[in-house]
Amino acid sequence: MSKKIILSGIQPSGQLSIGNYLGAIKNFVNYQDTYDTYYCIVDLHAITVRQNPVALKENSYALAAWYLAAGLNPEKCSIFIQSHVTEHAEMGWILSTFTQMGELERMTQFKDKANQHKQNINAGLFTYPALMAGDILLYGTDVVPTGHDQKQHIELTRDIAKRFNGIYGDILTVPEPFIPKVAARIKDLQNPLKKMSKSSDGAGTIFLNEPLKSIEKKIKRAVTDNEMNIAYDEKNQAGLANLMGIYAACENKQIEEVLPLFEGKGYGDLKKAVAEKVIEILEPMQNRYNELMNDKAELDNILKKGAEKARAKASPTLIKVKEAVGFIAPS
Ligand code: TRP
Repeated sequence: MSKKIILSGIQPSGQLSIGNYLGAIKNFVNYQDTYDTYYCIVDLHAITVRQNPVALKENSYALAAWYLAAGLNPEKCSIFIQSHVTEHAEMGWILSTFTQMGELERMTQFKDKANQHKQNINAGLFTYPALMAGDILLYGTDVVPTGHDQKQHIELTRDIAKRFNGIYGDILTVPEPFIPKVAARIKDLQNPLKKMSKSSDGAGTIFLNEPLKSIEKKIKRAVTDNEMNIAYDEKNQAGLANLMGIYAACENKQIEEVLPLFEGKGYGDLKKAVAEKVIEILEPMQNRYNELMNDKAELDNILKKGAEKARAKASPTLIKVKEAVGFIAPS
């Protein structure tokens, strides 16, 4: 039996946080043995918000380097830049004609981003989900691991695929979302009711390339509560729950397994343990990341192979889609 297919993407905008690592990239590493895996650096999506071109380039390399430093193996999975596989832009365009304005208007990510970037509510920001549907459907993707915030886009992708298949026959695979528990769990250290995000800078976010001393400080200053009793309560002791969530995710364990380690201890002990764990994981990753960032030729090489593998999978789907809608194949 052939392996099931996983595709996911991360935007190369801004510095990655430990939330991106624990909630997404760390799991990507686990899937690479059992699934046929495609991990995309979605630069076409990133430009729906204005990017500094020098920073966009650097962030795209950085994301590739973090994927690799985290343990993705380019022999097993495909790591590629979205704009290198031009099928994405073509598929996104075609699928935008199978996507209704009303559907796009309901997307909460669009509403949030339009609110944050009032001076640049561009058409690409609006049609973004059709491009994302293209990313997913080009690969015959079975499962899309993402954060909770992407669930609506994946539901829309499913609707688009079913609509297309309803007209032209069974051409596109209808994907399932997969939202790992930890992805939902990593919260801002200063505001533990909010997701830890790479776009919010400051004291609540641990960045992957942050100096280790500074990581330790941020964890020690994380918001807790006045209960003075270690328990797992996401509502009333959200800060503690978040710290335990980080610890558990680092250890690949469930909350129930780590809670007994801290019961009866002080908050300072928990913070110390979390800081040690995070640093133990990030230190070797940062070393590998720095090596890779100093060897762009090696990164270019890996990205080239990744794009070749990706194109081999994406191209036949696009050909079928073009054929279905009635385009003349180039002779
Ligand atoms: N929209 C996703 C985000 O903002 C990124 C993304 C683009 C993606 N294409 C994708 C995620 C395909 C999963 C699959 O995080």
